Amino acid sequence: MGNETIQSTLTENRLFPPPAAFSRGASIDDGQRLEHLCSEASRDPASFWARHAQEEITWHKPFSSALDRSRAPHFAWFADGELNISFNCLDRHLARRGDKTAIIWHGDRGETRHLSYREIHGEVCRLANAMRARGIQPGDRVVIYLPMVPEAVIAMQACARIGAIHSVVFGGFSAEALRDRIEDAQARLLITADGGHRAGKIIELKRAADRALDHGCASIESVIVLARTGHGVPMKEGRDEWWHAVVAAMPAHCEPTWVGAEHPLFLLYTSGSTGKPKGIQHSTGGYLLGAIVTCKWVFDLTESDVFWCTADVGWVTGHSYVAYGPLALGATEVMYEGTPTYPHGGRFWELCERHGVTIFYTAPTAIRALMKLGDDIPTQFDLSKIRLLGTVGEPINPEAWMWYYIHVGKERCPIVDTWWQTETGSIMVSPVPGVTALKPGSCARPLPGIVAGIVDEAGNDIAAPDQGGYLVIKEPWPSMVRTIWGDDQRFKDTYFRRFGDSLYVTGDSARRDADGYYWIMGRVDDVLNVAGHRLGTMEIESALVAHARVAEAAVVGRPDELTGEAVVAFVVLKGQRPAGDERVALAKELRGWVTEQIGAIARPADIRFSDNLPKTRSGKIMRRLIRAIARGEEITQDTSTLENEAILDQLREKQ
Ligand code: PRX
Repeated sequence: MGNETIQSTLTENRLFPPPAAFSRGASIDDGQRLEHLCSEASRDPASFWARHAQEEITWHKPFSSALDRSRAPHFAWFADGELNISFNCLDRHLARRGDKTAIIWHGDRGETRHLSYREIHGEVCRLANAMRARGIQPGDRVVIYLPMVPEAVIAMQACARIGAIHSVVFGGFSAEALRDRIEDAQARLLITADGGHRAGKIIELKRAADRALDHGCASIESVIVLARTGHGVPMKEGRDEWWHAVVAAMPAHCEPTWVGAEHPLFLLYTSGSTGKPKGIQHSTGGYLLGAIVTCKWVFDLTESDVFWCTADVGWVTGHSYVAYGPLALGATEVMYEGTPTYPHGGRFWELCERHGVTIFYTAPTAIRALMKLGDDIPTQFDLSKIRLLGTVGEPINPEAWMWYYIHVGKERCPIVDTWWQTETGSIMVSPVPGVTALKPGSCARPLPGIVAGIVDEAGNDIAAPDQGGYLVIKEPWPSMVRTIWGDDQRFKDTYFRRFGDSLYVTGDSARRDADGYYWIMGRVDDVLNVAGHRLGTMEIESALVAHARVAEAAVVGRPDELTGEAVVAFVVLKGQRPAGDERVALAKELRGWVTEQIGAIARPADIRFSDNLPKTRSGKIMRRLIRAIARGEEITQDTSTLENEAILDQLREKQ
């Protein structure tokens, strides 16, 4: 992709200094402190991170060296140190705040549960013992396919306790997507639930899991099923057991397995630019450090906060800022099973009031959806405890930012627009809320110790302000991805081939303004961002061509007011192009098909049928042309090479 496509059109000149009341109490409360951290980090990054790792983590065995570059780009951090994450998140709080509420859970149907650190510790130990009793060894993979219930965090922590590697699969993914992930990871154990409640409906997780297991997943030996909905589900003799039955006889004490800092904590599958999702592999020590320091620097999180990150544990945000970071710091957090608008459009604000939320972190797509419902909804609730707001997952448009700032934060709460990725493990570029003056739509500057840059096609720095380029990270950082599970080559090719071993390629484009603020402009690869979720266009294309009637498909994104981007699929059928009712019915069928193959998040908003796809002479699909058509833009590309110009009219036809 050439530089001409990395052009920025957004200009935003508003500047919001940090509210004095916030800065006064913040842990990084003035520019000098931040400057001091940044200069310490730039003098000697490895010692900087080592100091934090010593201060923030309880090590079973201390590490002797911080960064090992010998296998670059597989960087290793604190490699000879030993620790256990579950010990760091739970045991180390027991003496001083064991009875403090760790998780306030709010169910879709309005029920609540308060779980103390001690209770969670007990449940984690019981499940960990049950897993050990079933032969799960350190390094074995365990797939977790659960709704947003405390047991999801408990299951993750239990894996960490015995050194098993968890791979959480978002409950909105289909049976097929679950099967692919189980098979790629060769998981031995699956932890799921009879179902989950979401917006008044039941999500049939066990039934989806059964469909996955009926069609493969030979590596799975046992399935632990949480009773959440109480609706009957078939249980397979000798394979499936109820969670409550397996933990009943287990002691609430479980000696943690001490693992090396580089021991994989989890895999999390994410979309890339091929049809096959990649298992992003994270470490234990470096990952934990990233989660902890960013909770402090970005969220200013302290023991007295009630933190609510609305992300599902199926995404990386739910790993770093639900399952690990807040617990490592001994905070109280809210976990919510449902959706922002059910049973009413004030649900998020109702929960903030009810549970005394002090820090609220959500996605721009949710903010846009809530903004549409009207300014008067947040005013009906007491949001006075909120002191900090955050966003993640996609660029936030200044209009949504202003709405969030005025109507939720009442112009007294800073907003941290946090840029990061599944691969980065923790937040990389973000305002530091007590210090940074905010610009709506910008994620401000890289955090201390993070060396970001913007480079051109050749990998040279772009120093000039406001010129778009590739966003790269120039130095390793502790919570970075270690490899792609089972595919070191793909890891190197994806992140470290374009500009060599020393520049991590994020796949995003960005510009930096004259004040050094970063403005993320979007992906430069074939990845879409729909409602803050990453979707590979090739993945959706492969799903479409797996349908018996589809010969070929091209998927692109178009801007969408609510979801940021929406999926548009151009489909060539085997045989005749359908017309009239048949066309409408087939488009509906294909939408359902994609939902079955991947999940509802990948369902195309538009499906367009044509006799052919526009291709170059060498047979490459002309994606830019298709993108322009999907967006209803003027076509500026040269179309003289098209075999059949008439297909342009077909491609423009909406279903
Ligand atoms: O394009 C960027 C966008 O989301 C991508 C990462 O997606 P994922 O791995 O699913 O992780 C999402 C949650 C961390 C990035 O490459 N993105 C994430 N945060 C922002 C963003 N784009 C703009 N602004 C953000 N704050």
